[in-house]
Amino acid sequence: MKKLFIIANWKSNKTIPEATSWFQNLTSNIDHLSSGDKEIIICPGFTLLPNIKSYIVDNKLPISLGAQNISPFDEGEHTGEVNGKQIKELADYVIIGHSERRREFREAEEVLTKKVEMANKSGLTPVFCIQDEQTPIPQGVTIVAFEPPSAIGTGYTDSPKDANRVANIVKEKYNISHILYGGSVDGGSVGSFTQMSSIDGVLIGGASLDAQEFAKIINQA
Ligand code: PGA
Repeated sequence: MKKLFIIANWKSNKTIPEATSWFQNLTSNIDHLSSGDKEIIICPGFTLLPNIKSYIVDNKLPISLGAQNISPFDEGEHTGEVNGKQIKELADYVIIGHSERRREFREAEEVLTKKVEMANKSGLTPVFCIQDEQTPIPQGVTIVAFEPPSAIGTGYTDSPKDANRVANIVKEKYNISHILYGGSVDGGSVGSFTQMSSIDGVLIGGASLDAQEFAKIINQA
């Protein structure tokens, strides 16, 4: 059985009390969170990471944490930036190259390559987002999420067949071991993607904000 990555991207959502009740809700909606063949990764905003990390440790949950961004610089005089060493204290993964960051913050190849380098140097695993099979992928990436912008937050997924086609091309072109699909996935559609031969998981935005729906996604994946 292939290993599946199920990643929640909370984007700019939730306060500390909201995040805590989400976790309480998740654990009461799922019989047992099996680790094993499913790697569950929650990517909350930076301010939520310390509390969530404590909650996960205290409750011995088989859940990993990721950040949604990383500084392209080392520690030092870079106001407002959160560097890899700081993130590594709390998380093991980091999302890089999301289309919202490309669009809203003009992040492009050069800075994204630096971010991937910083992630790897800090012991974080980058989850690198591509918009189509033409998006360049920097060296040192092992997990890629294919997220067509037309599918993000629209309620309209790509077809599982097309997502699998892109995954095959990317696997062939680059030495990438895991390709995930993202864009409007929910509990009803997740299985149609994870059953495709070249898709190794999902990156979930909107549907991950609801703990009950996210529990369904874990169960159906
Ligand atoms: P969505 O977002 O699931 O809300 O479409 C996915 C993402 O942007 O990672």
